[in-house]
Parts: sequence; C-alpha cells; structure tokens
Amino acid sequence: MQVSTDSRETWGSKLGFVLAAAGSAIGLGNIWRFPYVLGENGGFAFLIIYVACVLLIGIPIMGAELAIGRASRRNPVGAFRELMPKSAWFLVGVVGLITGVIILSYYSVVAGWTVAYLVNSVTGVVTSHANADAAGEAFSSFVSSSGKTVLYHFVFMFLCVFVVYQGVKGGIERYSKILMPTLLALLFLLIFRAVTLPGSGEGLKFLFNPDFSKLNVDVLLMAMGQAFYSLSLGMGVMITYGSYLDRQSNLFENATTVAGLDMGIAILSGIAIFPAVFAMGFEPTAGPGLTFQVLPMVFSALPAGQILAILFFALLTIAAITSAISLLEVMVSFATDELHWTRSRATFIMAALAFILGVPSALSFGVWSDFKIFGLGFFDLSDYLTANILLPVGGIFIAIFAGWAWKRAAVEAELRDGNPQLKFFNIWIWFIRILAPVAVGAILISNLLPKG
Ligand code: PHE
Repeated sequence: MQVSTDSRETWGSKLGFVLAAAGSAIGLGNIWRFPYVLGENGGFAFLIIYVACVLLIGIPIMGAELAIGRASRRNPVGAFRELMPKSAWFLVGVVGLITGVIILSYYSVVAGWTVAYLVNSVTGVVTSHANADAAGEAFSSFVSSSGKTVLYHFVFMFLCVFVVYQGVKGGIERYSKILMPTLLALLFLLIFRAVTLPGSGEGLKFLFNPDFSKLNVDVLLMAMGQAFYSLSLGMGVMITYGSYLDRQSNLFENATTVAGLDMGIAILSGIAIFPAVFAMGFEPTAGPGLTFQVLPMVFSALPAGQILAILFFALLTIAAITSAISLLEVMVSFATDELHWTRSRATFIMAALAFILGVPSALSFGVWSDFKIFGLGFFDLSDYLTANILLPVGGIFIAIFAGWAWKRAAVEAELRDGNPQLKFFNIWIWFIRILAPVAVGAILISNLLPKG
C-alpha cells in the first residue's frame, strides 16, 4: 500500500535545516561542559582528539542518521520499520524514543535553572552576591527549593511546546532562524568582553596549552562521549530532522556543516568563559558549579556585569531551547506518524510525559536527595544512563544498520541524491561498518567497567 508520506512537511530552506540541526547539537553540552572537559584533559591535546572523534565517528554516523531519515521519511521507529520491514530493527527506534524522553526530562530541569538565572540576572539578584560562598549558597538553596525548580522546569517545557506545536517549518525552523543568529551575536559580545580583560591570557592558556602528558585512554573515551552527546547522535534526532529533508540536499555536506558549527561554538564558548574566569582570579570548577556559581561571581566583579549576566544566561537558555525542541520533535513525529495523533495533541502529551519524568530529577537536589538508585540520585541516574549507555548503544546499532543490514546499493543511492559526485563513499562505509561500532563499543565497555 502506498502510504501518503507526500504530505510530510519539509524544511523551507537549506539554511533552515542547518540552523535547526545545529541548534539541536549546540546546547548545554557545548557551553559549560565542553570548555571544562577540554581544559581538564590536556587542553589543545584534548581538542585534537575531540576533533578527530567528530570527523572519524561523529560525521559518518550523522550521515547515516540523515540517510535513514530521508530514505524513510519517518520518525525513528517508523524509519527502521519502513527500511527493514518484519525485523526487530524498529527496536533501535524504540530505544531512541525512550532515550529522548529521559534526556528531555532532566535537560529541561537544568534549562529551567538557566531560565531562573536569566530572570534573576534581570532583577539583579545573580550579580548581588558578596563572595563566592554566598553565590554557592544561593545556588544550593535554589536547586533544593522544590517549588521554584519545578516551576521553572514547567516554564521551560512550555516554551518548547510553544515552538514545536507550530510545526517543523512554522515552529522549529522559524525559531531556529531567529535564535541561532542571536546566540552567535551574544557569544561574540561575551568573547569580546572576555578577551579584552587584563589577565585574560591565562584563560586562553588554560584552554589551548597542549599538555600531551594528560592523554590516556580515559581522555580518549571522554572525547568520544562528548562528541556523541554534543552532536545529538544515537537516539534519532538526526533521523527525524533528516526525514524533513528534500532529495536535493547533500547529506554529507549537511552533516559536515552541522558538526563544524557545533565544534566551533564549543571552542568559542571556552574562549568566552575562561579568560573572564581567570582574569577575575577564580578557579575553573566543573559543570553546574562553573555556570551557576563561579560565573555569577565573575559577572559581579565586572563593570556592567549585570548586562553580561543577562547576555550569558540568555545565550544558555537559547542553546537549551533549540536542543530540547529537537528531543520533543522526535517524540512528536513518532506520535503523529505511528499513532496518527494531531501535532498539537502529540506535542502536549509528549511534553507532559517528559515534564512528569523530570519532576523527580528536579527534586533530587532537594527533598528527594536521599532517594538513590545504584548510588545515584534520579537526575544523575538519568544523565548517566542516557549519555554513557543509551546514546552509545544507539550509535552502534545505527552504524551496524547502515553498514551491514541496509543494502549497500540502497545506502549509496540515498547518499548520492543531492550529491551526484559522492566522494568518500568507500571510506565512509568502512568507518560505519567497522570503526564506529568498535570505537563506540570501547566507550561503552569502559564506562561500564568500574573506575579506579
Ligand atoms: N547536543 C545537545 C547538547 O550539547 C544535547 C542533546 C543530546 C540533544 C542528544 C539531543 C539529543 O547540549
């Protein structure tokens, strides 16, 4: 039976797709995680390995996801069913959906903190702390207050619903085209401020000093994990976004552009953050601490710091929204394709699901902090399970599918549409068949092995 896929929406323009897909990739993972991980793992030496991971594993897998999406014009579950009917491959899509809803649930919690910090920057609270201890205390008391964190988690999810229910072209693409250039402009403003501060050179040194003595297997695995998470690979975001691409699009070129933008923004956010941190005499600390405790202090100490704080938290909020909408869209495309729900119904119900699942994560910093599974709080468990296990597993199966299960001639034909020259196919296929599954398998196993 000819199913009418013709009515499926497509991106309005090539730029629209690139901005939406880059918006998915560029997120909380780039702006606070990447700079810190890079600095702590050998600076420039880590960067070289990270870039190699993106080029050798990330871009090939992104190409595979886009091809699977465009060939099937379906959500991740429907895509595998369409390309390999009567097989168990659709389970890869099912796992992707589950991964997506879990990531969205806790991502929205952190994004909610970001929105709260944006609001508190506007009112001046964020830059009002007298010292680092006060800023730290403000952060702890905020994350442990159930009412506020759940409220902001709700507000953030609502923003995502607002964008996604308006559709692919009229919602995701339209807002990506506004938000991504804004993000770039904000980032450049912050970089300009950071590098013109006296003493900023230390920060750049921290980022770019090649310290090859720090390199070891763990660092290699960290770089690969970061590449995966940062590029939104392994759960079907790129399958879904690829399903809205037309046949004139060059998939490899798109994958390369998106990965290049993602890498570029990660490096630029390091350049925006560390010079300021060092210039103000603070030490770089990890993750949420850096963003929500150290940076407010840095801003407090700077002239016009309140404006910088507003710009920074606006930047982080934008980065989080364009990533979270891609997670929601995967679920929405599943519900509209497979369950035949209307888009608005799908958007509200799926967002509600992710919201509810996120509540225990939000509370795990406060009232539910004693509730542990495998020694981890709900938030940490969600993060660990998705980033360290489910995404790499998804990536391995996607690579095996595209390399071994899907007919070689069919994959080749799919990649050739929009790219008649199709260079590098013979290299790509072996990257997908052997290198990606083996390398990503190594990340996975090392993550499961007890450390130390
Ligand atoms: N790439 C996003 C980030 O860097 C996170 C993400 C992972 C989004 C997986 C979608 C899917 O923040």
